[in-house]
Amino acid sequence: MCVFSMVTLENIGNIFAGFEPGSIVGKLEMLFSGIVNGIRANPVDIPGTAYHHGLQCRKNATKMFREVLEKKKKNQDATKPTNDLMDGLMRVKDEQGQQLSDEEVLDNIVILIVAGYESTSVAIMWALYYLAKYPHVLKTLREENMALSKHKNGEFITSDDVAKLTYTNKVVEETIRLANIAAIVNRKATKDVEYKGYTIPKGWKVMLWVRYLHTNPENFEDPMCFNPDRWNVGAAQPQRKIDLSSISETKGRC
Ligand code: HEM
Repeated sequence: MCVFSMVTLENIGNIFAGFEPGSIVGKLEMLFSGIVNGIRANPVDIPGTAYHHGLQCRKNATKMFREVLEKKKKNQDATKPTNDLMDGLMRVKDEQGQQLSDEEVLDNIVILIVAGYESTSVAIMWALYYLAKYPHVLKTLREENMALSKHKNGEFITSDDVAKLTYTNKVVEETIRLANIAAIVNRKATKDVEYKGYTIPKGWKVMLWVRYLHTNPENFEDPMCFNPDRWNVGAAQPQRKIDLSSISETKGRC
């Protein structure tokens, strides 16, 4: 198992469902890579296909989280309450005061792990690759982080601290751009759309090729160069927001 997947899953498993690091991470990794392969496969549900395997993995992953959920329900009044994402989802109520069903809680946990674990581990891997290749970036990054660490005096960093790490945030932006962690975004046309002389008929699926946008010299100067400073405020910038509202009313957000 890749070390970055392991670290990411250990953390996500702990934050989302209170899994103790180490215990079942290997099993979770196998299940979630099966699910991810199934999502990417042709949807042919017969034994032997990646899609069928993905569905089986999803069932088994849900079963593991269901066991945790049942335990949480039995210990609701325990003296040592936990406060992970599953607890939050079990508590949350809509405007009518309705709580999520068990199935909804489990679906949310599984989808968040699917969306979060591979993207994060691949991003970490590419960040390390670029830092090794561009030592001056690593130096600046290290200085910013060491200054924070000194200031914190051994305490954990908070999300407010992370927001203040301006150079580190630019390194993250640049890694996501150049490594194209999410290379495509999908939409379905909710009406006929005219685009550059072409008609996209209602109901067609549209795939936005983000890799092309990220490496196009019209959008980014010297696009294949890893340069976090291109994200400086005030630097000549391409549009960071792509408006897909003319194609689909569905808003995707990460
Ligand atoms: C480097 C890390 C990540 C990248 C590059 C990334 C990228 C993306 C992209 C491009 C989309 C599609 C947005 C759209 O359709 O407009 C997306 C959706 C999503 N991401 Fe991420 N993501 C990352 C990490 C995460 C993490 C850590 C989580 C959760 C723990 C997460 C949860 C989601 C969810 C739930 C969606 C679906 C949102 C929706 O359809 O409304 N992502 N992500």
